[in-house]
Amino acid sequence: MSELLRLSVNGLDWAVAVEPEETLAELLRERLGLRGTRLGCEQGVCGACTVLLDGEPVRSCLVLALQAQGREVETVEGLADDPAGRRVIAEFVRHRAYQCGFCTAGFEMLGVWKARAEAELSEEQARALAASNLCRCTGYRPIVAALRAASREEAPAASSAEGPVAEGSSTGDPG
Ligand code: FES
Ligand code: FES
Repeated sequence: MSELLRLSVNGLDWAVAVEPEETLAELLRERLGLRGTRLGCEQGVCGACTVLLDGEPVRSCLVLALQAQGREVETVEGLADDPAGRRVIAEFVRHRAYQCGFCTAGFEMLGVWKARAEAELSEEQARALAASNLCRCTGYRPIVAALRAASREEAPAASSAEGPVAEGSSTGDPG
């Protein structure tokens, strides 16, 4: 039997009837039309479905929609309205940290989470962060570079004349 779910998504309040087994990812993509959140493995492994729930990253394929009752959800669609989100987008563009883009939203949500922490990521920390999600085509070096740069308070804007700073690898290994 469906239940009424009230939640905030990217600052907008919603009240929707959901089924108990409906996942947060399904709600966002199929009911609210926010398809920037990707579904890959649907088993909590790839991280493509990562969103922020009350500011913390979660695999939305593993979270029931009803677990978001009364809470705040942020998805990639809301990043352009957020200072840290804009910084992350700019650094992913500057470092060319995407290719097909399937994984990008998940990585960017991790980047926003860390960028808001106002502590610059070390190379090791950025690699550990990148290792929690899977990318199958860009390689991890540009993603690590973008995550690090976005975590710096004075990260340059996307219009910077500086080119990409790292080459990609296709090994699937952040190291
Ligand atoms: S789709 Fe959720 S972790 Fe892969
Ligand atoms: S950019 Fe294609 S999977 Fe990461």
